[in-house]
Amino acid sequence: MQLTTLGLSVPLLAGCSGPQSALDPAGPMAREVAVIWWAMFGFASLVLLVVIALWVYAMRRPHRALDEAQAKKINRAWIVWGGLVLPSASIGLLLLFGIPAGHRMLPLPIVGEQPLRIEVIGHQWWWEVRYPDSGVVTANQLHLPVGRPVDLDVTSDDVIHSFWVPRLGGKIDMIPGRHNRIRLHVDRPGTYRGQCSEFCGTQHSHMILDVQAHDEDGFSAWLDARRQPRVSALPGPAGDTFASHCGTCHRVAGVSEGQRAPDLTDVGSRSSLGSGVLANEPGAVLRWLRDHQQLKPGNGMPLTDDIDPDHLSAIAAWLETLAP
Ligand code: CUA
Repeated sequence: MQLTTLGLSVPLLAGCSGPQSALDPAGPMAREVAVIWWAMFGFASLVLLVVIALWVYAMRRPHRALDEAQAKKINRAWIVWGGLVLPSASIGLLLLFGIPAGHRMLPLPIVGEQPLRIEVIGHQWWWEVRYPDSGVVTANQLHLPVGRPVDLDVTSDDVIHSFWVPRLGGKIDMIPGRHNRIRLHVDRPGTYRGQCSEFCGTQHSHMILDVQAHDEDGFSAWLDARRQPRVSALPGPAGDTFASHCGTCHRVAGVSEGQRAPDLTDVGSRSSLGSGVLANEPGAVLRWLRDHQQLKPGNGMPLTDDIDPDHLSAIAAWLETLAP
């Protein structure tokens, strides 16, 4: 019995940490969410224990003969206390803590401080990330400064997605034609993970956001490196193939201006390809270009069968170098 309990609790406890655990908060907003979660868990456990105790008592107590009036009175007491007072008090208590916590997560103006503004646009199935104040555009990665509030303006280009970085704060829907805002606050540098949390089609689970929090200098350096990207176009016929086959959808700053698909200006510096599908190791770009419909079936990129294999290899090798 003890071994079984231990065996069951190990995977449960493992869920309390890791890059995507809301119970391992890395900022004040996420901490409030975690505290409310633990309070709800504690209260729910208490209710469960009380219900179990009552059940055991009901099974074991000696039988008492009650007349109809007494039975009615006991029934009424259960309905009033267990069915009305207890749920009302629980919901009241939850709202008492939940409403102020929710209020503190709103992107309200802060006196003397200008939060950093970032736009995140959901696509089937990738994330477009824009830093409007510096003109930097990237995809599937979100870089943030530590110790400074960040206001995310989120929307969607197609269906409803949901933005959620569990260790940094609450989640918010990304709705086509509508701009929602959420404030995040990170208080220690590190790597976090976001995941679309609204089912948005077959590759919903492959909509992963790599989140990196830097100290103020590290963040400025990251942004500055991308403000003036030094990208040279791929020369020769492979470059022409890129322009005719890839550049109409993908943007590479100074080379192509496509808008439909992820911006590739710094693709060589990203941790993954296909929004978390493939680790971005040497050779991974070529593998993605050849097999992307096997790796992420249904993604919006056409097959590359009609491209000369030598051109494809040259394009992949060039894309790997696109890192500031
Ligand atoms: Cu996007 Cu689920």
